[in-house]
Amino acid sequence: MENISSYVQENKERFINELIDLLKIPSVSADPAFSQDVLNTANTVKEALEKVGCDHVEICETPGYPIVYAEKIINPDLPTVLVYGHYDVQPPDPLDLWESGPFEPIVKKTELHPEGAIFARGACDDKGQFYMHVKALEFMIATDQLPCNVKFMIEGEEEVGSESLSWFVERNQEKLSNDVILISDTGMISNTQPSITTGLRGLSYVEVEVTGPNRDLHSGLYGGAVANPINILSKMIASLHDENNHITIPGFYDKVEELSKEEREEMAKAPFSLEAYKKALDIDAVHGENGYTTNERNSIRPTLDVNGIWGGYTGEGAKTVIASKAYAKISMRLVPNQDWKEITELFTKHFESIAPKGVTVKVTPHHGGQGYVTPIDSIGYRAASKAYNDTFGVTPIPQRSGGSIPIVSLFEKELKSKTILMGFGLDSDAIHSPNEHFGVFNYLKGIETIPLFFKYFTELKK
Ligand code: BES
Ligand code: MN
Ligand code: MN
Repeated sequence: MENISSYVQENKERFINELIDLLKIPSVSADPAFSQDVLNTANTVKEALEKVGCDHVEICETPGYPIVYAEKIINPDLPTVLVYGHYDVQPPDPLDLWESGPFEPIVKKTELHPEGAIFARGACDDKGQFYMHVKALEFMIATDQLPCNVKFMIEGEEEVGSESLSWFVERNQEKLSNDVILISDTGMISNTQPSITTGLRGLSYVEVEVTGPNRDLHSGLYGGAVANPINILSKMIASLHDENNHITIPGFYDKVEELSKEEREEMAKAPFSLEAYKKALDIDAVHGENGYTTNERNSIRPTLDVNGIWGGYTGEGAKTVIASKAYAKISMRLVPNQDWKEITELFTKHFESIAPKGVTVKVTPHHGGQGYVTPIDSIGYRAASKAYNDTFGVTPIPQRSGGSIPIVSLFEKELKSKTILMGFGLDSDAIHSPNEHFGVFNYLKGIETIPLFFKYFTELKK
């Protein structure tokens, strides 16, 4: 492809500044206080797509936040790539742990990003990553090198379960028809060893409530004589793993696919340093299911984790009290074949069954979704692999990720197409965490690599 790296070099400052402007808008989908900002972000994305030369751009209303849709159809006989991304971001909390404002983007150098990284909520997940596609399209249109048709679908509810997107996809199969779906919302191994994500975990997210006495009690007058919901909840949660760190919910592993020895050996070839992993997190040991390596535990194995737990007195000083209620939010990461609705039911049944007398338990399911695995012999995978090879000078390694993008399995079901996950973030970019950032190197490399995917995909498709 002609001039891609020089185009990126020449326009580097502008590309960074445009992303910075997008990152200034706090599009937090989880908090209604930001709803106007979420809507403004959709508009900004729409304008950006118009500016680069899409011939049809619209804001599609849904029951929730709108979806920005755009297309550039150059010839109906050519293949069509559908780019998906999300313009919403996670809440920035805890604010006091940010070294600069979450919505006041700045560029700073780090050990892993000697060329600088853009620090802001959403820098990597996913504004920086979907915006690479907007800039890659700018290049292809400006230099007359767009080899096929392209559609964009950028949503505003990914971080809260993509409910409106499901609604939209089910109603717009024709409009969204495509030959491959391309997403940059995952990571890669390192800046010298790119990887292509070939799997995502599914998810079941539930909230539990344990109720004891009908009101908060004096912990001296009543302590020892009535069930303390916080004690009980802690015990119930602790019982969800056994001494081997297996999950104890009956039936939980029934559909889990065990990988063959060969597949596990293949996985183990990916470069990984346990020492560096521990050092980066300041921990003296890793922890997880017996019989599996760290990389297996966080990708091909299902998990159960408490994401939040509360109840009773958590303010300053000490208050002697037995709370009436205790709560926890629990996520289960699932692997392909495990059905998230079935797992949610198994959890609910089990959790209710282990509640002792003296308390009542309520389980409320939140969102969820199916896992995903994709083959590495598809045209899409091969095109992506060639593209990375050109820009990084190394063949990317296929790697299953532990994260979830539930909508990907829905795409396959409703649109009958495969998704290629070309992520350019690093695990250390602190997504969902304070000081989220995205390497300038990664951002620009993404913009360079994407047009090559379009080129190779179109060629291989012939
Ligand atoms: N982009 C992430 C998912 C991700 C990140 C996958 C890195 C692989 C590597 C996405 O925005 C996300 O945060 N997904 C949620 C699930 C969603 C239903 C809230 C997740 O994985 O927790
Ligand atoms: Mn994301
Ligand atoms: Mn996310």
